[in-house]
Amino acid sequence: MEKKIAILPGDGIGQEVVEQGVKVLEAIADRFHHQFQLHYFDVGAAAIEKYGTPLPAHTLAGVQCCDAILFGAVGDPKYDDQTTVQTRPEQGLLQLRKKLGLFANIRPVRTVNSLLHLSPLKKERIKNVDFIIYRELTGGIYFGEKGRNADGSAYDVTTYHPREIERIARLAFKQASKRRGKLTLVGKASVLETSLLWRETVSKMAKNYPTVKLEFLNADNAAMQIVLNPKEFDVILSDNLIGDILSDEASAITGSIGLLPSASVGDGTPLFEPIHGSFPRAAGEDIANPIATILSVAMMLDHFKLYEEASVVRHKVRNALEKGIGTAELHLDTVYSCSQMGDMIEHLITDHYDLAHSISVMGERVATII
Ligand code: IPM
Ligand code: MN
Repeated sequence: MEKKIAILPGDGIGQEVVEQGVKVLEAIADRFHHQFQLHYFDVGAAAIEKYGTPLPAHTLAGVQCCDAILFGAVGDPKYDDQTTVQTRPEQGLLQLRKKLGLFANIRPVRTVNSLLHLSPLKKERIKNVDFIIYRELTGGIYFGEKGRNADGSAYDVTTYHPREIERIARLAFKQASKRRGKLTLVGKASVLETSLLWRETVSKMAKNYPTVKLEFLNADNAAMQIVLNPKEFDVILSDNLIGDILSDEASAITGSIGLLPSASVGDGTPLFEPIHGSFPRAAGEDIANPIATILSVAMMLDHFKLYEEASVVRHKVRNALEKGIGTAELHLDTVYSCSQMGDMIEHLITDHYDLAHSISVMGERVATII
């Protein structure tokens, strides 16, 4: 298969985690005889420095010619005191989502048995948690009119059209019907008109998906249930802001925000990115966890319908973690740096072996990277 892939490392640890994702892409290309052409572009603070804007025109034009985007992270504390949100590095990502029409952000939340000790929740509560969040990504309060009034007040307007709700709800229903058949719509329908519209629109669609049980939760209750009964969830559907908040909460219960990937899909080139941010304090230290990015690569491969390739990537990641190897914040037996993790997964893929064989195989073959 031939694919053009846009690589947008962005800021902070974005650079180093994406580098590991690229190693994995290259290893998959090598083992399965695919041609992945990589095209690098600037975004975020990195682009502001060079071109004065977080999403330069050539970056947008470039990614539009590609089949997928691998994205690192954007954000730099240098821009924290900007007087308007419009010039912050984060705009690079927000504009990209908007311009490409990437209306659905998909965030799987799964726990790894060998990492249950990292969760702030009790093991029995968190074991086998497996749900997916479908977050609307190009509408709502993020993109509504915003500004300041003469009296010093500020406003952000939330608007949703039924069309914007239907197109993401369709994806969420489909996903739920392939999984355990439960879809939870999260809003604040007791207070917000837009949430009420979400509820009406999604309810009308439910009859087309008879195998899916549709439930409604208010956002405050959902935030509580994610901590109390995370196993209850299968597919969660929500608007842009609520989805942003719930997906960070959901990642926290797994114990490491460094493990969770995401896909943003819709009309244009799909974008795959770790859900963590640019973590500026760790930038350049080679300590960041590249697994969320590597698993985002697996989501990209799934998107290309390269299911075997995607499952090889996931298998190798699980294999490494189960053998007690991970970045420092995972507190496993063997601490690897960001680049060592990438090197290891790359070798496990190209050389067709599992760490289960023996650590001595590992010692001989990969001695240089340990
Ligand atoms: C995310 C991030 C972004 C968002 C930021 C960087 C604008 O938090 O992808 O969840 O709020 O959507
Ligand atoms: Mn977020």
